Amino acid sequence: MDDDARLQQAARDNLWMHFTRHGDFEKAGHGVPIMVRGEGVHLYDNHGKRYLDGLAGLFVSQLGHGRKDLAAAAAAQAESLAFMPLWSYAHPPAIKLAERIAGYAPGDLNRVFFTSGGGEAVETAWKLAKNYFKLVGKPMKHKVISRAIAYHGTTQGALSITGLPGLKQQFEPLVPSTFRAPNTNIYRATEHGAPHGQTPEEFGRWAADQIEVAIENEGPDTVAAVFLEPVQNAGGCFPPPPGYFERVREICDRHDVLLVSDEVICAFGRLGTMFGADRFGYQPDIITCAKGITSGYAPLGAMIASDRLMEPFLAPGEMFAHGYTFGGHPVSTAVGLANLDAFEAEGVLANVQTNAPVFRSTLERLKDIPIVGDVRGEGYFYGIELVKDRDTRESFTAEECERILYGFVSKQLFAEGLYCRADDRGDPVIQLSPPLICGPEHFEEMEQILRSVLEKAATQL
Ligand SMILES: Cc1ncc(COP(=O)(O)O)c(C=O)c1O
Repeated sequence: MDDDARLQQAARDNLWMHFTRHGDFEKAGHGVPIMVRGEGVHLYDNHGKRYLDGLAGLFVSQLGHGRKDLAAAAAAQAESLAFMPLWSYAHPPAIKLAERIAGYAPGDLNRVFFTSGGGEAVETAWKLAKNYFKLVGKPMKHKVISRAIAYHGTTQGALSITGLPGLKQQFEPLVPSTFRAPNTNIYRATEHGAPHGQTPEEFGRWAADQIEVAIENEGPDTVAAVFLEPVQNAGGCFPPPPGYFERVREICDRHDVLLVSDEVICAFGRLGTMFGADRFGYQPDIITCAKGITSGYAPLGAMIASDRLMEPFLAPGEMFAHGYTFGGHPVSTAVGLANLDAFEAEGVLANVQTNAPVFRSTLERLKDIPIVGDVRGEGYFYGIELVKDRDTRESFTAEECERILYGFVSKQLFAEGLYCRADDRGDPVIQLSPPLICGPEHFEEMEQILRSVLEKAATQL
């Protein structure tokens, strides 16, 4: 057996991949794609074939692949202090990264609690919200409101906050006390209960007010937090309508409910700002983040809380009884610092700000293809919704999703050299979230591959 065949055999026999239909590879009679190398905005498979990374790995690789500076930062830290937990001890990279992140974070979000990834940051935020309200004499406040179709992670608490029934049912019963409000899918607003004929501003107010309805239905004295992404990922990149977050902030203040901005995707330049909340000008009580915090050169996440939320834990003898062995790992936090150094030295945010309108207009050219219903997003984060009929907005059936979205579009995009994501957790979408070092020439390449594949797909309905 050659090396490739041996890898395929071991992958089949021993590697349990995430969110993967293993049986489909068996059925198709071919192996799994094996990626071996990355360089800049490109990935290479084990046959040497090159792909444009249209998803930054998984909304992660902000600075692209193969960077020596980030690898060197990791190696240097591993040599000097490979491991030390943050359990009553500290180490310089965690201290410096916390200070740096607090400096970028909006308002008084100065308290950085490191985790190993995004789901843990979400868990941490919910636990903090519950614990905080117990300490300040509102022990009944424990429930969470989140939005339909939103993804917040897979651990049992984060999954409970997630609004995707298909990902939850098989794990029920989950953590009780979470409730859903409508999301900001303006393309299908009326299908989800919004009145007909609203302006974007009216829709924004309506969608925000649904959060208040959910809080009031549950009883404000029992609700601890609202978890929202700046731009909701699952469903295909729903930006907030004008005025939405301003109104949500008012509602949260009125009911003493914490606003948690889940920025696992939207922080670290994805929308052209360090944090997604800055892009839309709102002040959260907590930000959860991960992914781009290290551009993927090491795993790391964080919950960033306001000074007010840490206050009760500063009393003698008090503590937040929560932590992770690898949260704030020295190597990961050293990489996080090098990542932020590169962001500044290379003007990464400015690159996104300059090129985001070009990204949008390049993708919008695809709207002349009959199955492209909507192109939406912000910064370097876009969803393209596919429809059967552009005029009626009729969506694919489950059979068409299988046959066209997964059976053809997803496979063909990859075959033609574009790594991105086809998803039908809401309506069928293709998602693009390229490294933040991309520019117009990469957008052109994406558009050409997408056009070629979607035009062929349109003939298969
Ligand atoms: C908004 C949001 N929250 C939480 C998570 C979970 O992060 P992780 O996979 O690092 O646990 C994700 C992952 O994509 C996410 O997009």
